[in-house]
Amino acid sequence: MKELKILIVLIVFTLITYIGIEPFAHSQMSPHVAPANFNYEQEDIDLAKVRIEEAKAALQKAEIALAANATNENLKNAVESAKNDVQIRENDLEAYQELWAQAGEIAALKGNAESGAELFMACTACHGLKSQGFEPPFDDASSSEAYGVVVPDLSLAGAVYDKKFLSALIINPTQALKLSKKFTDENPFPMTQFFGFGEDLNQEVADIVAYLQSVAPQNISSKEVFETACLRCHDVRYDALYATTEKSALKGYMGSNPPDLSIMIRARGAEYLENFINDPQKKLDGTAMPRVGLTEEYTQKTVGYLEQIGDSKKGERTTIGIGMIVFFVFMAFFAYMWKREVWKELH
Ligand code: HEC
Ligand code: HEC
Repeated sequence: MKELKILIVLIVFTLITYIGIEPFAHSQMSPHVAPANFNYEQEDIDLAKVRIEEAKAALQKAEIALAANATNENLKNAVESAKNDVQIRENDLEAYQELWAQAGEIAALKGNAESGAELFMACTACHGLKSQGFEPPFDDASSSEAYGVVVPDLSLAGAVYDKKFLSALIINPTQALKLSKKFTDENPFPMTQFFGFGEDLNQEVADIVAYLQSVAPQNISSKEVFETACLRCHDVRYDALYATTEKSALKGYMGSNPPDLSIMIRARGAEYLENFINDPQKKLDGTAMPRVGLTEEYTQKTVGYLEQIGDSKKGERTTIGIGMIVFFVFMAFFAYMWKREVWKELH
């Protein structure tokens, strides 16, 4: 009986650690955020509202501190800056509501791929579309120098990026990529806004998106998605992939060096990565990494690629783990039988 009690105590403590303490520590180190939402309109509006609430809470705290010490200049400044922050966050919500309302109108239109093919000339000033024979106007080195980043080829764009996101990106790149704080009128974003050729702007955007969708291939491997969406900024040295943008140009453009992603899956886990790719600002408020706008399917493929490179032994580990548990269950049983046999005279 004594052994059984010890076993129960052990199990209880293990469960407390595993179900209670471990997830709690995790949630403290990486605060919980809402799960990845591939309805980007909802995602952006929800997060903007969360940020407004946070800014208002910070303002309230600053005002309470000032009330207790009304002549303190620092506290006065803190209140002013907190008020300013609330205003910025409120403007941001408005900007997202406006952007996504228009993107919704565009998505409701039926795009004409043939007219889109002609309108696409507005994009070939910077982008290549190799699958249709449009070579990029610049090589990687010149593009790094001119824009700070290699302008991506759009052959896969119509498949891997969310349709509504593409519309939003074309009419307002900085807001769609969630970089409107970093890129302003004084520091303009290198991808220019599309103003149209004078016909109905929304219809023209719908046509361009329809064109990109009509030329995109069906079966795209996870590595190809990664190359289209991430490789202009990130290395994956374990797979001998190196960012196409020159390092020094990229540092100047982004303000920080994008990390090598070889073992990011082990450092952060799949759920974090999916969440981060979905909306980098939610995990790292103010980060320079743009929202990439991949569909759910292609986000998962990208994470799958990083898992395959950084954690290729995961399947093996799981199998061995199960084998070990079965082994210990048998061992425990035989050990118990053996003990009974040896001690039976004494009981
Ligand atoms: C003046 C140059 C320029 C023009 C014109 C331009 N782009 Fe871009 N585009 C860029 C650059 C630079 C980037 C990469 C930005 C980055 O990664 O920070 C980019 C990125 C993109 C991306 C990838 C976005 C993502 O989520 O990663 C897509 C898709 C795209 N452009 C589509 C278009 C379309 C469609 C047009 C035409 C309506 C167009 N672009 C016109 C420069 C341009
Ligand atoms: C235009 C450049 C650019 C593109 C494209 C880009 N990233 Fe990043 N990424 C960055 C930068 C810059 C950082 C560093 C951010 C920081 O420190 O705030 C970063 C950071 C990261 C991180 C680290 C996050 C953390 O918690 O430390 C991950 C993971 C990541 N990127 C994944 C991706 C994936 C996957 C893609 C493609 C789907 C991608 N990135 C596309 C620029 C980019």
